[in-house]
Amino acid sequence: MSRIIVALDRVDKSIDWYKELISNTQEYVAGYKFGLPFLTRYGIRGFKEISRLINEEKLWIIDFKLADISYVMTKSVEPFVKMGFNAFIAHSFIGRHGSLRELKEYLLENNSKLILIYTMSHQGAIDVLDKSISIIEEVIADIRPWGLVAPATRPEMIKRAKNFLHKNGIEIRILSPGIGYQGAEPGKAIQYGADYEIIGRLITYSPDPILRIKEINCIHEKVVRSG
Ligand code: XMP
Repeated sequence: MSRIIVALDRVDKSIDWYKELISNTQEYVAGYKFGLPFLTRYGIRGFKEISRLINEEKLWIIDFKLADISYVMTKSVEPFVKMGFNAFIAHSFIGRHGSLRELKEYLLENNSKLILIYTMSHQGAIDVLDKSISIIEEVIADIRPWGLVAPATRPEMIKRAKNFLHKNGIEIRILSPGIGYQGAEPGKAIQYGADYEIIGRLITYSPDPILRIKEINCIHEKVVRSG
């Protein structure tokens, strides 16, 4: 079982490049994540093309980092749910009532997963999200998303998320970005308790993405085996 989610944010490639990359790597990864760079370059048409490759066993994550009222968020994800994308990332700081509760319900009804941001990988998150982390934890304990995003660049926050989930008897997967270009070594987040590592440029800019993925899978295996 792979623990890699590939972040597909390249804006200088064709849809055919995307389709080929996905077709060639599906068997070695846990899933793919698409964000605003993809939307703003390739549009809904691009997503439709990609959706032809969707199979339900993988994670097909839409990462628009939603932070709005429930009506706007559900209407924003609706076309992607219909295309078969099955997981959506939203911010936690927007709170429950009138926003995350309804989004979670909508996604549940439509066989899709909600992933909430615990805290982020960049420096600015220390000043804001980390300072509010106990309030964010209250939101998470109430909403019970399928997954949480916690940063590999600050693995102590993965540890904190893990402890918080354990203490409250909550089972939520942890997905961790920040590997490679943002500074963390592959395997670091898994070592600290993450279930998946979200990896973009380290793979997508590699001259041999399949080889790079296989190498990272090996690192993950080693980390898991050494417990
Ligand atoms: P790279 O190329 O740096 O891409 O491996 C990382 C991917 O992860 C996303 N990212 C985050 N998403 N919280 C998130 O929800 C974060 O703290 C965070 N940091 C990076 C980024 O959008 C890119 O797709």
